[in-house]
Amino acid sequence: MNTLVGVGVGPGDPDLVTVKAANLLAKADVVFVPVADSGETGRAEQTVLFYAEAWRVQRVVFALHDREHTARREQAWDAAAAQVGRWFAEHPGGTAAFATIGDPCVYSTFTYLAASVRDLLGELDVALIPGITAMQDLAARSGTPLVEGREALALFPMTAGADRFREALERGDAVVAYKFGRMLPETLAVLRETGRLDGAVYGAGLGLAGEDIRPAGELDPDAPGPYLSTLIVPPARTGRGGAL
Ligand SMILES: C[S@@+](CC[C@H](N)C(=O)[O-])C[C@H]1O[C@@H](n2cnc3c(N)ncnc32)[C@H](O)[C@@H]1O
Repeated sequence: MNTLVGVGVGPGDPDLVTVKAANLLAKADVVFVPVADSGETGRAEQTVLFYAEAWRVQRVVFALHDREHTARREQAWDAAAAQVGRWFAEHPGGTAAFATIGDPCVYSTFTYLAASVRDLLGELDVALIPGITAMQDLAARSGTPLVEGREALALFPMTAGADRFREALERGDAVVAYKFGRMLPETLAVLRETGRLDGAVYGAGLGLAGEDIRPAGELDPDAPGPYLSTLIVPPARTGRGGAL
């Protein structure tokens, strides 16, 4: 049976790859990595190359930063699935890994790819290896517990708009924002308006050269951030065990 494994390789630091992921990357017949059409080394690819020789790594071009569900994006998924399908046609019974940053079940292209490849091939074994997410790395690196006691956690892609983000902030939940990049000024404005800017922590390029971790209150309120940036907004806490 052909096997396709979605493997999370963490946010950037190669030391944050799990032993299970490292073992798979070392032995898979091929490791597919998503890259943008700019030709640059992909984010997941950089980490994969610590664990897999370059000759086993194959690039798959995705419209990675398209903000909308566009026709260009659909075509990229179809082309990617066709490339992976061709590989299985040439290597029947093979094991292919597909690397994603962070975790393959959190806003990852893997879900779409696996469904499209299965449609093409009819039969396919799909497996997943979890990875450490950007929010976990930021929580650890900044010493910010994500949730304690009875606190709830909400994760928002800011591309979905600010309304539900605002609601969760107003409820007092622990909130994490992903995918805000260019919308950083708007995101910070919502934090200020809801009184949640104090205690919020920002991390950009986690595990990469030029990484930037700091209190969100220290950011320039008008400057956009990079695509790879994350915010953690912890609930107001009253001290040890306050949320129990
Ligand atoms: C398409 S989502 C991928 C999420 C990823 N699968 C995960 O589990 O963390 C991309 C978003 O993840 C966050 N992200 C991923 N890697 C990051 C990093 N190294 N530094 C900061 N944020 C990161 C950013 O919010 C970015 O916009």
